Amino acid sequence: MKFKKFLAAGAGAALAISLAACSGGGAGSTDTSSTGATAGGGAAAEGGTIGVAMPTQTSERWIADGDAVKKGLEDLGYSVDLQYGNDDIPTQSQQIDNMITSGVKALIIAAIDGTALSQQLQAAADAGIPVISYDRLIRDSANVDFYVTFDNYKVGVQQATSLLVGLGILNEDGTEAGAKGPFNIELFAGSLDDNNAHFFWQGAIDTLQPYIDNGTLVVPSGQTTIEKAATLRWQQETAQKRMEDILTSTYVGTDKKVNGVLSPYDGLSRGIITALQNNGYSGTVADGFPVVTGQDAEIASVKLIDDGVQFSTIFKDTRKLADEAVTVAQDYLTGATPEANDTTSYDNGVKVVPSFLLESDIVYKDNIQSLLIDSGYWTADEVASGQAS
Ligand code: GAL
Repeated sequence: MKFKKFLAAGAGAALAISLAACSGGGAGSTDTSSTGATAGGGAAAEGGTIGVAMPTQTSERWIADGDAVKKGLEDLGYSVDLQYGNDDIPTQSQQIDNMITSGVKALIIAAIDGTALSQQLQAAADAGIPVISYDRLIRDSANVDFYVTFDNYKVGVQQATSLLVGLGILNEDGTEAGAKGPFNIELFAGSLDDNNAHFFWQGAIDTLQPYIDNGTLVVPSGQTTIEKAATLRWQQETAQKRMEDILTSTYVGTDKKVNGVLSPYDGLSRGIITALQNNGYSGTVADGFPVVTGQDAEIASVKLIDDGVQFSTIFKDTRKLADEAVTVAQDYLTGATPEANDTTSYDNGVKVVPSFLLESDIVYKDNIQSLLIDSGYWTADEVASGQAS
């Protein structure tokens, strides 16, 4: 994946001016910087360090997010302390504690558990450090200054829409395609401690409910609440196990077949697909393999979509999200007010956090080229091999 610079040239220019202003004209003097002189001693020292806390390296998107945020900040002259929390809450809390102690100028945080950081955020506020919640909303704290994310409810709508398209109920343009079912579907949700999981679920359920109510869709397992459908820490193995359990308890030994599975993330989708394959489902969606949705356009899933095995995913361009986070951090550090485009949707339990929401797209086999390859997100070779180069 190539991380092109999406930053507005103006932002970089503004920083250059402000750096020059506060460094007494030393900014840009790489010689000065390399000798370690303190007055105006290098762009990084002038910009200060920004702490970036990401949840895990087990999902490639967070690695891409971390790299892109780091690069964007470094391009503007900041140093970056980038840490991954290994999906372990105490580890992430400690990493953020350390960042605050070491005097970071701003924090960009994608939380593991959105409710577990109140203490850290209070310390950040006490130290005057702005906090930007990245992709996942940090809850239960007044000390979240800004939220950069995608329209998460709409992502859920898109996931459910693609399931309906795969089943032949809707066309890609959203018009009715005519299939009446009844179709057997099963529902998966993300990690309950991730605020996004609730938005994805709500968007999806609001979209599917009319078809459940009129009998077009049936959920044979009866597991229709987010609590039953949830997948702690978004783990692939957990989703695989739950799908296997559902197959065993509800389908094996009957003439029922699974027709579709709502999956909110590609890692879960691959676990679900493996469970289905282990239970005799084979071939492609065109041959009758169940329609499985996804999210994140992870390369292994994009290949599965190209091969006709996974039906869809949701493309959220993490390069744009990273650029937005960088822009907001830059705003705070230069005394500007970051621009929100949503000031109503994201109530974190204490306050409505001003947010900037980006748009997402549904990926099907027939638009991998236009959405992912033409935009430089993945190359044709990466899609063919299923591996990032
Ligand atoms: C969510 C994120 C999704 C997906 C998921 C699992 O918070 O919005 O895009 O990455 O976590 O990592």
